[in-house]
Amino acid sequence: MEDFDFENRIVSPTEIMGDNDSDNPLRPRTLDDYIGQEKAKQNLAVFMEAAKLRHESLDHVLLYGPPGLGKTTLSGIIANEMHVNLRITSGPAIEKPGDLAAILTNLNEGDVLFIDEIHRISRAVEEILYPAMEDFAIDIVTGKGQMAASYHLPLPHFTLVGATTRAGQLTAPLRDRFGVSLRLELYTPEELARIVTRSASILNIAIEPDGALEIASRSRGTPRIANRMLKRVRDFAQIMSDGVITLQTAQVALERLEIDELGLDANDRRMLSAIVKFYRGGPVGLETLAAAIGEEAVTIEDVIEPYLMQIGFLNRTPRGRCITKAACLHMGFELPDAQDGQIRFDC
Ligand code: ADE
Repeated sequence: MEDFDFENRIVSPTEIMGDNDSDNPLRPRTLDDYIGQEKAKQNLAVFMEAAKLRHESLDHVLLYGPPGLGKTTLSGIIANEMHVNLRITSGPAIEKPGDLAAILTNLNEGDVLFIDEIHRISRAVEEILYPAMEDFAIDIVTGKGQMAASYHLPLPHFTLVGATTRAGQLTAPLRDRFGVSLRLELYTPEELARIVTRSASILNIAIEPDGALEIASRSRGTPRIANRMLKRVRDFAQIMSDGVITLQTAQVALERLEIDELGLDANDRRMLSAIVKFYRGGPVGLETLAAAIGEEAVTIEDVIEPYLMQIGFLNRTPRGRCITKAACLHMGFELPDAQDGQIRFDC
C-alpha cells in the first residue's frame, strides 16, 4: 500500500516545508489588510482602541479554531497595531516552568507573547502562567529544604495571545484568565478569492478573477492552503498560459495536483473509498480504519477528518466513522440499494 505523505500534502492546513511562515510577505500587518473574520476583527478593533485610549496593555486574547486560519498573523497584527514587540513560542516548546519564567522576565511593557498550541503546555508551566496573567508577577522558588527561598518577581504588563485548535482541551482556570476570546471560522470562497488576489499582487503573479475563485473554492476555507496552491498553479501558468492564471490554467493545474473541486486530495478519497470498500460505508472504529489504511489514528483524526466532517462527508458516531450520502454522490460510489443495502446510511 502506498504511504500517505501527510506532512507535505498541498491541502494540509498545518505548516509544511516551503510555507515560509515566520517571515512571510503575504502576511497582512494591519487589521485593514486582514481579509475576512469580520466578527473577530470588529471586536478586536474596539478592544485595541479602548486599551490604547486608556494607555493600558490589551487584555489577554484567546484565539481558537481550525489550523491555517491566521492565528499567528492576527497576533502579529495586534502587536503591530499596539506598537509593541511580538514574542512567539508554543506550548510544546515550553518544557519547564523556568523556560516560561525566562521568556516572561524578558518582555517589555505592553509586549505581546504569542503561545501557539497553548492546550499543550504542562500543568507545571500552567501554574506559572496563572499569576503571570492575573497579577503580572511570578513566584520563583530556588534551592531545597533549608536552603529554599522564594522570590516574588513583578513582570511588565504584557498581553498573552494564546492560540489553540482545541479550546475544549484548555483547563477552565486557564480559559477564564483570557479577557477576550475570539473564534476564527473557515473563510468563504469569496473571501479566499480576495486573499488569493492580494497575494498574487504581492508576488507579482497575473491572475484573472475566475482563476482566483477556482483556487479559492478548492482551498478548504483555509488561507494557508490557498496561498500554497497559488504558488503551485503559477508554475503551471508559466508553462501553459504566459504566466497568467486563468480559470482553465487553475483547473488543469489542480487536476494535475489531484485536488478536486471541493479540495479533496488523493488521501481523502482513499480513506473514503476504504470506508465504502471494506466496511460498507461504516460504522468503522477509528483504530480499525487506521490499520486498514496504514496510518496513525491521531493523524486521521487531526489531519483528514476535520474537513470531511465540515463538508458533511463523514460522521463520527459512538460506534465509529460513517460515510454520508453526500460523500458517495461526490465520489461516484454506488448509492445503497433498498434490497442489497451495499452502503448503510444509518449513522
Ligand atoms: N493571508 C493569510 N490570511 C490572510 C487574511 N486573513 N487576510 C489577508 N491575507 C491573508
